Amino acid sequence: MAKQSMRQRLEHPEQRRSDYLQLLLNTRREDGQRRCLTDDEIIAQCLLFYFAGYDTTSNALAWTARLLAFHPHQQERLQAEIDGKLTSKEDRITFDMVNSMPYLDNVLSESLRLYPNPQLSRCCTKSYHLPGTDIILPQNCMVYVSPYGVQRDPGLYPNPDAFDPDRFLPEVKANRHACAWLPFGQGPRNCIGMRFAPLQAKLALVAILRRYSFVPGARSGGAVPEIDAAPGLLKEKGGTWLKVVRRG
Ligand code: HEM
Repeated sequence: MAKQSMRQRLEHPEQRRSDYLQLLLNTRREDGQRRCLTDDEIIAQCLLFYFAGYDTTSNALAWTARLLAFHPHQQERLQAEIDGKLTSKEDRITFDMVNSMPYLDNVLSESLRLYPNPQLSRCCTKSYHLPGTDIILPQNCMVYVSPYGVQRDPGLYPNPDAFDPDRFLPEVKANRHACAWLPFGQGPRNCIGMRFAPLQAKLALVAILRRYSFVPGARSGGAVPEIDAAPGLLKEKGGTWLKVVRRG
């Protein structure tokens, strides 16, 4: 698909658009650039966008739905917030509306705290002395950070395995270090979708929860899920299975 779109854009410059593919294509056109992207690199970036952008958000939604199914009080509180904004069946969900639901934001943040991407990785470009320690990271050394470990640390989150969206109330959050919550990574190479993804996930949750509720079903397992040991995103073993019931 990427190859076909690239060819089409190059053969028909009038079809030029201001989108992601065009930005990638522009790197090979401008003169005097230090580094241009090859065709393979452009294709790799397009592919990365699919992996980075779709499975991550749908996985976050699956975990959130599961948490809500096993925590009906929190689900009802969230539905009350949604009902307060969408008062009639015809009301449309808007950008501003989704962004004015603090409990929704806290639910998603708490879900991403409990079930984040398992690993962040960096490679040392030069030797680095870790301040306050006698540890020297040599050049080319890989460093792995576990958001799961950080985010389940009882020193940062008391009773860390409990689902409690109120941990993200502004006054509670203000007492935590900025790196205590790492689902989108940190620093200059953090996730570029970290504002878009929550918006998309919230939109889906509002659209579903205004009409339906999640409940555990026969295949849902217990409140504490079994984690799939396969590498990659943190997923539930055998997939997440829930029932969806229409609200009265
Ligand atoms: C809930 C959904 C998502 C989660 C949990 C997530 C998580 C992450 C994490 C942990 C990283 C690595 C950050 C680091 O090493 O510091 C990352 C990188 C990245 N994400 Fe996301 N992501 C999500 C959605 C998205 C979406 C929707 C897009 C695209 C529209 C996206 C595009 C990217 C890209 C391109 C990178 C690589 C950035 C770089 O290397 O400079 N992600 N994401």
